[in-house]
Amino acid sequence: MDRNLALEFVRVTEAAAIESAKWIGRGDKNNADQAAVDAMRDRFNAIDFNGTIVIGEGTKDEAPQLYTGETLGTGNGPAMDIAVDPLECTDSVAYGRYNALAMIATAPQGSLLQAPDTYMDKIAVGPDAKLVIDLDAPVKDNLLKVAKALGKDIREITVSVLDRERHKTLIDEIHAANARIRLITDGDVATAIATCMDDSPIDILMGWGGSTEAVLAAAALRIMDGEILTRFKPRNDKDKAELVKLGISEDQIFKATDLVKDTAATFTATGVIDGPLLPGVVFGSKRTITHSIVMRGSSRTVRYIKSVHHNEAKQ
Ligand code: FBP
Repeated sequence: MDRNLALEFVRVTEAAAIESAKWIGRGDKNNADQAAVDAMRDRFNAIDFNGTIVIGEGTKDEAPQLYTGETLGTGNGPAMDIAVDPLECTDSVAYGRYNALAMIATAPQGSLLQAPDTYMDKIAVGPDAKLVIDLDAPVKDNLLKVAKALGKDIREITVSVLDRERHKTLIDEIHAANARIRLITDGDVATAIATCMDDSPIDILMGWGGSTEAVLAAAALRIMDGEILTRFKPRNDKDKAELVKLGISEDQIFKATDLVKDTAATFTATGVIDGPLLPGVVFGSKRTITHSIVMRGSSRTVRYIKSVHHNEAKQ
């Protein structure tokens, strides 16, 4: 993949992050998301590549922009699959809470799983524990094995879990195993990726979250040599029918390499509000600061980019 392309994508997430950050704490998640979508689509269409959205804002009927199947880019350049989450954690932005990102993943055409938008059960860990996790094992067994692989006592293990009623039993089991929990209001992509970061307190992500978010997280975890194991958990009969249509069994376990099948993937994210992965947008009177992460699978390079945007200049 063109090296410059990976860096072009950061302009896309920066623009989405800046525009959606203008809606922080205004109680309006729809406009926050729309601002990110508009900015992201504009920037994508200025890039020389031939992209098709495989994970987007919904079907064409549901979403006029960044819908699944929409083509992006000038059409000149490599054919690529794109997964977008213009604003991961719309509620966090609307209500001024912690942890929101603008993000995209890309990979050569045909290599991102076209995941229907439902839930998936997930376990994600960093490189040292990638071989010991098992989606079918009891919670305590996973935690003991991850602790051993990381050279820690189980009491020193920190598990990130979405704060949801459906996770009550999971949370009880983690407590019973004597591990620590970090509950998050939203944003399991950031904490899945944080398991790969040496300076992060998160050792493992567990629980049910969005399936489309699983594909985005898998792109980053693949590049960082971590692992995410997932299994679809349809919310209703419509989701079940969608899985049947796609030939996906509810028993099937998807690893990072099943969700993102090619090594030449990219993952790009810009912080909207401070979170475990990146600081959020800071607006100054003359300048706006953004922090992004850009990962390129072909070389496995992970870059952190701090950008200073002059408010008067064209972005
Ligand atoms: P949105 O920005 O689409 O609301 O996603 C936020 C998020 O917290 C994801 O990180 C997570 O995977 C999913 O929602 C969990 O879904 P739910 O809020 O229905 O439990």
